[in-house]
Amino acid sequence: METIFSGIQPSGVITLGNYVGAIKQFIELQEDYDCYFCVVDQHAITVPQDRLELRKNIKGLAALYVAAGLDPKKATLFIQSEVPAHAQASWMLQCIAYIGELERMTQFKDKSQGKEAVSAGLLTYPPLMAADILLYDTDMVPVGEDQKQHLELTRDLAERFNRKYNDIFTIPEARIPKVGARIMSLQEPTKKMSKSDSNQKAFITLLDTPKQIEKKIKSAVTDSEGIIKFNRDQKPGVSNLLSIYSILGGKSIEELEKEYDGKGYGDFKADLAEVVVKALSPIQERYYQLVDSKELDDILDEGAEKASKKANRMLKKMENAMGLGRKRS
Ligand code: TYM
Repeated sequence: METIFSGIQPSGVITLGNYVGAIKQFIELQEDYDCYFCVVDQHAITVPQDRLELRKNIKGLAALYVAAGLDPKKATLFIQSEVPAHAQASWMLQCIAYIGELERMTQFKDKSQGKEAVSAGLLTYPPLMAADILLYDTDMVPVGEDQKQHLELTRDLAERFNRKYNDIFTIPEARIPKVGARIMSLQEPTKKMSKSDSNQKAFITLLDTPKQIEKKIKSAVTDSEGIIKFNRDQKPGVSNLLSIYSILGGKSIEELEKEYDGKGYGDFKADLAEVVVKALSPIQERYYQLVDSKELDDILDEGAEKASKKANRMLKKMENAMGLGRKRS
């Protein structure tokens, strides 16, 4: 069976972009693949975090994975820092990564731009992500569009390691959804929907109330044409709303264009709000049952144990390939 790995940072709220671009895909994939899904808390500390908030966000994200439909009998869910092999493998990969290629990553450029003090961890973020993926013999990595460059670097590092030391890594492929790979801000639809946006109206979180969702969709920026048609360049706002509707409502973009032919943005937005509320309310209900439960702790304990077993086998292979430590039979 092919293996899938993916991760999400527990940094603040989880947005509709994360759900549509990542979590929703994960749930579908668990039926046919050996899946590992991770709460990447070590990635989160590459920028400053409040420790109590971080702890809360880690459990919250784990609860959301399960609430959204991740079945711990089918997929392995765990917290990155509870499987030390990730940080250990990351060190080895940092030693074969070049500073130049890390500095070229757009996420690094975006997050470091204009900052006086930038952590070294922000620069070495991609080798940690490569470690996450490569430790599990991963064939495929479901992610949104913004992670494509990190995936390419992961492949480069894996190929470099295989060539230089020993051919131990599977070269992973990115799996980017056709619709929804890049959900845009509701306020500036040429910008990605991001949890770090200072404008709260720009994103919907998975825990927003129906009222908040309705309000945010109602005030979403569109255009003055009044025609519901998909055209990313000329109608970024409407196209973004169509993508969200299509994925959460289970209808194709063409079907939606037909259905709303001759109708105005008001009707369209009201229906979309209903679709979003309907998709999120069962997730929210389950989330609140799970977030402080023993059930969730048990799932995470079991997940860390299972992930460690697999990751440690690859870590040993890496150490042997590079000649670290002593040879043991
Ligand atoms: P993160 O935490 O920023 O986002 C988690 C996932 O959500 C996707 N995503 C989006 N998809 C569509 N539209 C959007 N507006 C949107 N915003 C976010 C992201 O593409 C991602 O799939 N570096 C990763 C976390 C990571 C990882 C990994 C991923 C660490 N190790 C190993 C895959 C494999 C990140 O920061 O994602």
